[in-house]
Amino acid sequence: MKILVTGGAGYIGSHVIRQLIAAGHETVAVDDLTNGIQKRIGDTPLVKLDLASPEATDSLIKAFKEYSIDGVIHLAARKAVGESVERPEYYYQQNINSVTNLLLAMREAKVMNMVFSSSAATYGSPDVDQVNEDYLARPINPYGETKLVGEWMMADAAKAWGLKVVSLRYFNVAGAGFDDLADTSIANLIPIAFNAIKNNKPIQVFGTDWPTPDGSCVRDYIHVLDLADAHITALDYLDQDVREHSVFNVGTGKGSSVLAVIDTIHKVIGKDFDVDLVDRRAGDPAALSADVSRIEKALGWKAKHDLTDIVSSHYRASSN
Ligand code: WQD
Repeated sequence: MKILVTGGAGYIGSHVIRQLIAAGHETVAVDDLTNGIQKRIGDTPLVKLDLASPEATDSLIKAFKEYSIDGVIHLAARKAVGESVERPEYYYQQNINSVTNLLLAMREAKVMNMVFSSSAATYGSPDVDQVNEDYLARPINPYGETKLVGEWMMADAAKAWGLKVVSLRYFNVAGAGFDDLADTSIANLIPIAFNAIKNNKPIQVFGTDWPTPDGSCVRDYIHVLDLADAHITALDYLDQDVREHSVFNVGTGKGSSVLAVIDTIHKVIGKDFDVDLVDRRAGDPAALSADVSRIEKALGWKAKHDLTDIVSSHYRASSN
């Protein structure tokens, strides 16, 4: 298939593009390069575009026709939870307008296949440690809200004009599938931890008084390569006669605490570093990991990499 990947020059997007090519697909990237790096995607054509801009729909229709696009993987979004709390209107403008413009263009150009990057942030702070897709999604920040609204928009398009769509709820993505594709945004635990070590600063643990086995928060860390492969599998799934919008968790089904991540970093790098046990961070749920039985059953997909693979691959790629 000929696949257009929005956010294609990003950390996750560039992994998706390389795995698409490895699976025999042709790729086009759309990216405004505010975070993306074109070098990551080699000779994949790049359409430089702000998907939330007024001219985005016409530019997308032109790109769909020029490259004979069969399907879209929509990754482009603003995704900093803290920033979304401070600037909710910017997050709605960016994340919702981009979905609106994309769906208008796809309907006009009759592009009928979509894989949508959604998020575990749609669940908010669930009162269960392991959450499945039937759990009532109650996001607790504008970022998570924009992802849930995006899912609703996909479902409405499927009902109105037969869009075949899968929404993937990412858990905590980390690691590197290629040594030149490290996550360069210092926005999540593992890149933050390695950056602190590099700068001889302590790693901060946000709370050790949580109701978890070792008192620190538990999350489901998924290797970016496993996540990229889930997108390829989802595209194959759309080739069947899928009608209603489907939502799938993408995680390992295994929770790891912050202290366990730090212990893994210690084992991987083999040297000591400082850790500061500080207060909880606002908005954190104690534990959040994925029930992945639905994606395993429907798509036959299962994560192959564990936490050590994630940490060591990030270490190798970020040392480049
Ligand atoms: C992980 C854990 C922190 C930094 C993110 C985003 C979103 C979504 C899921 C895709 C938490 C703790 C962190 C630090 C720490 N993915 N921490 N010290 O908040 O789980 O969610 O991933 O949409 O990207 O919502 O990720 O990496 O910020 O935190 O103790 O310096 O590490 O408290 O428990 P989070 P995170």
